[in-house]
Amino acid sequence: MPTKFQVLPLSVALTFSGFSFAAKLENKAVTFAKDVAPILQEKCEECHRLGTAAPMSLATYQETRPWAKAIKERVVTRNMPPWHIDKTVGIQHFQNDRSLTDDQIATIVRWVDSGAPLGDAKDLPAPKQWPREETWQLSKQFGEPDFVIKSEAYTMPAHGQDVWWKPATAIPITEARWVRAVEMRPGSTAGRRITHHALARLDQDEPGATDEDPLGGPGLLMEWAIGKQFDIYRPNTGKLLLPGAQIRWDVHMHAVGEPIRDHVELAIYLYPKGEVPKYRTRLTLMAATTGTLDIPPNSLAQTQAFHVLREPARLENFQPHMHLRGKAMSIEAILPNGMTRMLSYVDHFNFNWMNNYIYADDEAPVLPKGTIIRVTSWYDNTTANRNNPDPNQWVGYGDRTVDEMGHAWVNVTNVTEQDYKEYAAKHPPAAGAYGFGRAR
Ligand code: HEC
Repeated sequence: MPTKFQVLPLSVALTFSGFSFAAKLENKAVTFAKDVAPILQEKCEECHRLGTAAPMSLATYQETRPWAKAIKERVVTRNMPPWHIDKTVGIQHFQNDRSLTDDQIATIVRWVDSGAPLGDAKDLPAPKQWPREETWQLSKQFGEPDFVIKSEAYTMPAHGQDVWWKPATAIPITEARWVRAVEMRPGSTAGRRITHHALARLDQDEPGATDEDPLGGPGLLMEWAIGKQFDIYRPNTGKLLLPGAQIRWDVHMHAVGEPIRDHVELAIYLYPKGEVPKYRTRLTLMAATTGTLDIPPNSLAQTQAFHVLREPARLENFQPHMHLRGKAMSIEAILPNGMTRMLSYVDHFNFNWMNNYIYADDEAPVLPKGTIIRVTSWYDNTTANRNNPDPNQWVGYGDRTVDEMGHAWVNVTNVTEQDYKEYAAKHPPAAGAYGFGRAR
């Protein structure tokens, strides 16, 4: 399949967008105090402030100035803030979009190109107040979590092979309850350095996925990875917890040169007692491979796999998962009438960021029964890939980060035929380039 990734070399795209960003604000004097600080407060400080995992704070002029060149490079290539979706195809409205607008990029570029001046300190916005690290992000919206479940701790030695830590923890409920949101994190900032990702599988007394119902079973409650910290389910939608349920953790850790001991913790926000949402959503692995993977040295490779929706369903999000050679991933819907729709395309995947792209309420696609979901991954095992530890190495399928894999995590919510009909009536194909929501 020809792709943008193959047709349009990245450097061409970047030169072009760098040029257009710079051209826009030709005659405006841009200062840190007046123009740049508000953008950094809004889009960067969440991660770039003292005591967080990011390499530097961007809270003051003194802290930011030495990084001016690096900031320009990262924002023009749209690597920072980490949001790696192609802005020209597929669904474009998300609940958690942290990307910069074109104007914000133009402002930053202009500021750096004009010598990164402070300007008049009187123009500086008041410093932004951040909650202490220990507060849960979603508590603002939902109040304190109903409970917090912690895994047993593990000590990752200074050196050695990757480890998969798989303890289990009971969920303290005595009756069926519905989850409206989950949030997850390593127990400490140090723990973030060794934790590649962490799965919280839900293990409870109900049948699992079968050949007839590949999306069945309790599924996964949550996956944590840098870039993905929480999941909020849509109104009237949730995950079901049954009495006796437990979390089976699967925490992928790697050594970072010093021993670090940490655990993983999961906050659960419930619907009020007795409230039963109409829809059940399940975090589903949609593979882009058929189990094997063959990436020769110094080459690009592509894999693809297909998944049939046996009921009408809403797809809530798209979260590509690959390892060091991961380059790009797309998710498409092949409708029963044969039309193909690009849902999302992450064109510059970066292994450091397992971003979760949560569709906005009015844009999450509702697809008819019989739709085929096609997930495609591209891998770059050449020197062009900065994350590549060894382009001369053959790479196959496996769990270690030096091995490769490709799949998307998608919350799939089965809906009724009636729901699908109502959605289809409101979103006729002619209304948008893709037939989903508004035109691009
Ligand atoms: C979600 C958290 C997050 C947000 C939001 C974010 N960053 Fe980052 N940033 C990081 C982390 C973590 C790293 C180190 C890992 C990496 O390079 O991907 C980083 C790396 C960087 C680097 C490279 C530093 C180096 O060592 O060379 C720059 C420059 C940068 N960020 C600038 C920005 C700017 C400017 C913004 C806002 C417009 C921003 N970041 C928003 C987390 C974030």
